[in-house]
Amino acid sequence: SLRGSFAIRDQKSNERPHYGLQLEASYKVAILGAAGGIGQPLSLLVKMSPLVSDLHLYDIANVKGVAADLSHCNTPSQVRDFTGAAELADSLKGVDVVVIPAGVPRKPGMTRDDLFNINANIVKTLVEAVADNCPDAFIHIISNPVNSTVPIAAEVLKQKGIYDPKKLFGVTTLDVVRANTFVAQKKNLKLIDVDVPVVGGHAGITILPILSKTKPSVSFTDKEVEELTVRIQNAGTEVVEAKAGAGSATLSMAYAAARFVESTLRALDGDGDVYECSFVQSDLTDLPFFASRVKLGRKGVEAVISSDLQGLTEFEQKALEALKPELKGSIEKGVGFVHKQA
Ligand code: NAI
Repeated sequence: SLRGSFAIRDQKSNERPHYGLQLEASYKVAILGAAGGIGQPLSLLVKMSPLVSDLHLYDIANVKGVAADLSHCNTPSQVRDFTGAAELADSLKGVDVVVIPAGVPRKPGMTRDDLFNINANIVKTLVEAVADNCPDAFIHIISNPVNSTVPIAAEVLKQKGIYDPKKLFGVTTLDVVRANTFVAQKKNLKLIDVDVPVVGGHAGITILPILSKTKPSVSFTDKEVEELTVRIQNAGTEVVEAKAGAGSATLSMAYAAARFVESTLRALDGDGDVYECSFVQSDLTDLPFFASRVKLGRKGVEAVISSDLQGLTEFEQKALEALKPELKGSIEKGVGFVHKQA
């Protein structure tokens, strides 16, 4: 886990060594959809990273002001704005990590799958540009439905002949962040210590917190397991309903995405001890994509961690079997979308 390393750094803390490594701002990050509800706070948090030298903000609207505003923060990275299709290619040149929160969010009564038609096209277009302009970059997909948009991205990259499954990530960090928060609250644990692996996918019942593998080791009653699981699965809907039409999670999502970006950058920078949950190409189950803990390294996913799926409780085993058909359908829908258009 990140153990609180992601914090506003004053000059003094900037001088401190970072995980024993030399702290040097040298990575280029592009955020596509940077002017949106997630994009803006995410851009701010990435602007605070001591590892970032260049921050490229791309959106089809309103991004000039966001970049001008952020560029006044006295942190190392240079901020540049890129607007509209004509500037998309330039926003991606030389970039190490591309984060994609572009697209429409849910409104009350909508499932993530209801966003499919609009967001599938947006993700396809953006990933094509990534393939053409920074084919070696790590790609973080936030746009929903993640269970389908990640397979869409993979198919696009395959068509372009540059697919590297180790570098394509569906961002599910928010599920882990939520699980950690809710478990710590319920069990009166110190938040910084709690780590719950969340596997499967990123929608409804496909989100499966493996509570039996919570660290530190903690016991739950059957009722607690059921309540916590359902709350973690529906936490996004909690926010959608509270916002009552104004969108879905943006601030907690930006926090989670920034944590994932920072973890990726630490791995790129040579930290050999970086683990995060993510929805990736996987052979852990018979599904082609599956979220689990992965070890991150310089080349992307260094290992998919299988231990969280071993010795599951009966509840977890049943939930795992129950999520597979839905996740399979969402993956196939994404793959089919790209092939239909080809
Ligand atoms: P928003 O509507 O506030 O912002 C979306 C931004 O994308 C806007 O600035 C818009 O101009 C931009 N955009 C639209 N088409 C674009 C294109 N072709 N190229 C570049 N930018 C484009 O939406 P919000 O709340 O920021 O959500 C964004 C996405 O993130 C949604 O699909 C939402 O479902 C998803 N999401 C994912 C979560 C996850 O855990 N992975 C959690 C919460 C939301």
